[in-house]
Amino acid sequence: MKVVLASCAALPSGDGDEDALISALQRDGVDVSWQPWGSPVDADLVVLRATWDYTERPDDFLAWCETVPALANPVSVVRWNTDKSYLVELAARGLAVVPTAVVEPGEKPSFPDGEFVVKPAIGAGSRGAGRFTDHAEAQAHFEALGVKALVQPYQSSVDAHGETALVFFAGEYSHSFHKGPMLAQGLAESESGLYVEEKLRGIEPTEAQRSLADRVLDEAAALLSLDRKDFLYARVDVVSGADGEPLLLELELTEPTLGFKYTGEDAASRLSKAIRSTARA
Ligand SMILES: Nc1ncnc2c1ncn2[C@@H]1O[C@H](COP(=O)(O)OP(=O)(O)O)[C@@H](O)[C@H]1O
Ligand SMILES: [Mg+2]
Repeated sequence: MKVVLASCAALPSGDGDEDALISALQRDGVDVSWQPWGSPVDADLVVLRATWDYTERPDDFLAWCETVPALANPVSVVRWNTDKSYLVELAARGLAVVPTAVVEPGEKPSFPDGEFVVKPAIGAGSRGAGRFTDHAEAQAHFEALGVKALVQPYQSSVDAHGETALVFFAGEYSHSFHKGPMLAQGLAESESGLYVEEKLRGIEPTEAQRSLADRVLDEAAALLSLDRKDFLYARVDVVSGADGEPLLLELELTEPTLGFKYTGEDAASRLSKAIRSTARA
């Protein structure tokens, strides 16, 4: 069985987080290798893992995804998930989501009082995300982005508590990790040019976080006419709202870091198992 992990030209073997996954797949007898996205690929399954530059060429990326015979997550999922406007759809289904307004280029955004975030609708690695109180500065940032963007009130709990990422394989909960705050006042700064460097560590989620994440997966699957087990991998990023209840910040179904470095080896074994059953299907 041949499995390709898709990466990008700047980091053709990812950032090291997948090392445990590669070991697990090899131990399980899988022929696994990395390949940057964009050229033809021959494998029983291609798993999007480190395709971080797709936000610069989203149309090319989706067109390439369409050419891959067996892709995880499936291209319909990727198409829906690469545009963060899905947050509005999930909120409309009654989920607790960070309040989100979508602004198209050329439109005049209306900004909330207090601190808020302006970030590209198609974005990853915190790039292009800015934290503002000044409306003129935020307007200038939105115009400089020149693309569809999201406006959200800044969730100040992130400064003290960061966010919790809950990871699922084939719809089943695997593990969680914690991510520190990414946005100082102003614009997020990236050293690598691909993502803003993150501070991560393992964490146990609360019951409330678990149950929100479960509902998010069920509702996302329903919106896509899929079953949640069709998501080979999923990461649900939650923050605390003003009342302490969890709010969805992001549902990552495209190329999330899965945090193997911050959890036990069995997480990689679980994904290896899910990959092998998806590749056989
Ligand atoms: N509404 C918000 N409130 C607080 N922090 C935010 C908010 N939106 C984004 N951030 C910060 O910016 C980071 C990147 O934003 P996110 O929506 O997760 O996009 P991505 O990870 O895809 O770049 C988050 O990890 C978080 O630290
Ligand atoms: Mg994020």
